[in-house]
Amino acid sequence: MLVHLSDLHFGAEKQECLLAIKQFCEKHPVEIIAVSGDLTQRARRNQFLNCKTFLDGLNIPYLVVPGNHDIPLYHIWNRIFKPFSGYCSFFGKTENILETANFYLIGVNSIRPRYHTKGFISLAQLNDVSEKLKYAPENKLKLIVVHQPFYVVHKGHGYKDCPQYAQTALEQWCKYDLFGLLHGHLHLTGIYDLTKIYRLDACSIFDIHSGTSTSWRLRQQEPNGFNVIFKNGCIEHYVFDEENSEFILRKT
Ligand SMILES: [Fe+2]
Repeated sequence: MLVHLSDLHFGAEKQECLLAIKQFCEKHPVEIIAVSGDLTQRARRNQFLNCKTFLDGLNIPYLVVPGNHDIPLYHIWNRIFKPFSGYCSFFGKTENILETANFYLIGVNSIRPRYHTKGFISLAQLNDVSEKLKYAPENKLKLIVVHQPFYVVHKGHGYKDCPQYAQTALEQWCKYDLFGLLHGHLHLTGIYDLTKIYRLDACSIFDIHSGTSTSWRLRQQEPNGFNVIFKNGCIEHYVFDEENSEFILRKT
């Protein structure tokens, strides 16, 4: 199984959620972890360090991408000229591939200082992802990890935050048996079929949103949570039970 965490926001993290994720990962056969951005609250070195220490401590292969909170907000020089220096010091490149027995993940960096919350995916990135999908192993579930969602239904915070070229990107990517995209940003949970929304010529491509897995920054009464995706494409949501300090399956 794949665990999809998001918006960890180290610096505003809840220790009880971190502990509960660790316990979940010890109890279940987690093969791979995806983290769809906002690893930190303010892109500070100690926040990146604490995040990396936590993820390394799970002893499970993981792929991360930056979120808009992972570039400096107040240090204007760094924000413009080296926005990812803190992130890269701890996590290396901003875009990676991670492959396990059943999953193939492609990380896409949608964060630009100029498009701070909305996100941006260039045509070069779009083509690069297409090439990766084209040569990806056929027998694995293919997922793209990118911070901003490609579809937002809720009016409110971030409802206009979909990267430009989403339509063009999906028209290309849908040719290559893409299962879905993993996002955070909104701190809300959801699954949407992009083939209907964007009128794509494909069976289905799912836009899979995770709430904030570990931070205090809850929105619209959505509890802390994460998603679990199985190799057969089944998707489950887990939410944090404050009373028992554990993540439990959300009944739909
Ligand atoms: Fe966030």
